[in-house]
Amino acid sequence: MSRQKLLAEVTKKYEDAYRRRTKKSRETLEKAKKYMPGGDTRTSIWFDPYPFWIDKASGCRFTDVDGNEYIDFHNCYTTMILGHANPKVVAAVREQAARGTALGALVPTVVRWSELVCNMVDSVDKVRFGNSGTEAVMMAIRLARGLTGKDLLLKTDGCYHGSYDPVVFPSDAAGLSKGNRAESIIVPYNDKAAAEKAIVENKNRLAAVIVEGAMGAAGMIPPRDGYLEFLRKVTQDNGIMFILDEVISLRLAWGGVQSIYKIKPDLTTMAKIIGGGYPVGAIGGREDLMQMFSPEIRKVYHAGTLNANPMTAVAGVATMEQLNADVINYINKLGESFAAGVRAVFKRLNVKGQITGIGSLQNVHFHTQPVVNGKAAREANKDLLHLYYLAMLERGCFSAARGLYVMSTPMTRKEIDTAVKAVDDVMTELKPTIEELWPELIGPAPQA
Ligand SMILES: Cc1ncc(COP(=O)(O)O)c(C=O)c1O
Repeated sequence: MSRQKLLAEVTKKYEDAYRRRTKKSRETLEKAKKYMPGGDTRTSIWFDPYPFWIDKASGCRFTDVDGNEYIDFHNCYTTMILGHANPKVVAAVREQAARGTALGALVPTVVRWSELVCNMVDSVDKVRFGNSGTEAVMMAIRLARGLTGKDLLLKTDGCYHGSYDPVVFPSDAAGLSKGNRAESIIVPYNDKAAAEKAIVENKNRLAAVIVEGAMGAAGMIPPRDGYLEFLRKVTQDNGIMFILDEVISLRLAWGGVQSIYKIKPDLTTMAKIIGGGYPVGAIGGREDLMQMFSPEIRKVYHAGTLNANPMTAVAGVATMEQLNADVINYINKLGESFAAGVRAVFKRLNVKGQITGIGSLQNVHFHTQPVVNGKAAREANKDLLHLYYLAMLERGCFSAARGLYVMSTPMTRKEIDTAVKAVDDVMTELKPTIEELWPELIGPAPQA
């Protein structure tokens, strides 16, 4: 049988098993198709044959509409650091719901919220809130452009910064504004020489350099060999604004990834954990830069009907007040022990599986080359990942389809052991398929 036919057959086997367990989800999708294109309204959560629909979630577990139970290693793409229905968050939003959910002026809780964010992140003297990480990035770029009078951006291949045209990846995606490609230079992540060359050559045109604290969407690829420190220094030496996108990486340390690498970006973009599961985005940074948003100066425009809305504010406060270095350390340890367990499985089975990440965020890849940048992550074997993913779902472990595993505080050793055991069973089951379809993936995992 040809490789292609065999792959189609084995994929069908796993997808059929998934279909059998998710009949109500399928029905819901069919209904949804009547009103939403393809029944979908969130590109990033789609996977084949179709994503399931969730009934209810609590702690680190949830149940889908067919009654299947899962451990949640997805955590809404890293947002739900305290897991679901955290009692203090639920109490706070219940109380606020009865006092007004969208108001034409701010509630005082927003002050406490901004204090928490500024106290958490050393480089953030002042903060402004919006409703998504996309908006936070948009505002950071607007501020950089507004202040410098320059347009060009430097970004890194594979770093994800949301849905705003100048940073959408791939940069030739349909519908982007025309000058978009001309507005940004893209260099490979973790390549210091390429970044330095581009910054020095274009410094008179560059408004800012934007980079993720660790590449999230590309597959949790950490910065290597002082990459972020280097970018900070080169931008500083050349008078270029440095925007660190910590929408995902903020949860990795009390103080964000910038505290691990001891750097002070000019601006930081944040979202996800600071909103306690409600729509959120924030831009923070150096006093003199952020002051440009102040009504006293108002050099840069920033409005939004639901900016700093009371529901997000109270959920954000209730979440952030439960976070500290020890809590973050706890979930980081869980993530590291999950990674160690998975690595041991790959080693014992002699399969070129890799797990990359930092602390509470870990990502599985299958590749003959070490996954250290966007290109390597894109070239990893997605067909095998798809089989692995469906087989993990069958064992009650939900992660992002791209192989991202996210820890939350309600998790214990038990959930980690269950997941590692599931990886062991899945990889043991898949080994003959790998030998047949992808013999190049048999052998010790490549070292970065
Ligand atoms: C690093 C990073 N920046 C920006 C965004 C955009 O955030 P949002 O989806 O809230 O618009 C994301 C989303 O995942 C992200 O991971």
